[in-house]
Amino acid sequence: MRKGLDDTLVILRHKLKGGIVARDYDPDLLEIEAWGSELNQVWTNLIDNAADAMDGKGEISITAAKTDGGGVRVSICDNGPGIPPEVAAKIFEPFFTTKPPGIGSGLGLHISHNVVVRHGGRVDVESEPGRTCFIVTLPMTLPQGVSGGTTPNR
Ligand SMILES: Nc1ncnc2c1ncn2[C@@H]1O[C@H](COP(=O)(O)OP(=O)(O)O)[C@@H](O)[C@H]1O
Ligand SMILES: [Mg+2]
Repeated sequence: MRKGLDDTLVILRHKLKGGIVARDYDPDLLEIEAWGSELNQVWTNLIDNAADAMDGKGEISITAAKTDGGGVRVSICDNGPGIPPEVAAKIFEPFFTTKPPGIGSGLGLHISHNVVVRHGGRVDVESEPGRTCFIVTLPMTLPQGVSGGTTPNR
């Protein structure tokens, strides 16, 4: 989990130039059962969106904490302009984007949401001007009966 987030930060370093990234990971974070590469796509999409929102000047904060049930809650927050309510209603729809053609595919949040739900988790959004957080909550174990392309790892 921690490593996945850090790997994603390394990959996205070029997009984060100028921006500050603050990290706060719970020291006794437990490993969860998950498809690691799929979750890494989720972190990539959320951090990518946060970086776009701040336009290279703001701050992204990433926190990872244990939930009561032994799962994890990862929050990725930025201090960009926020998501207006009429936009927020559509952000998980496939191909919905407010970015110029060729920049946004509008698929990042749709795919991320599907990945998280397949893991038995949820994505919550809190946004106001100056602070937007995407909060991903994942359980300790995968739900019964779901299958992925690969063997889940811990
Ligand atoms: N952190 C954020 N701050 C402001 N708007 C956001 C943020 N994250 C997502 N959005 C909005 O949600 C839309 C959909 O995001 P996404 O599915 O990742 O597609 P894309 O990034 O290709 O536009 C974005 O175009 C943007 O309007
Ligand atoms: Mg995106």
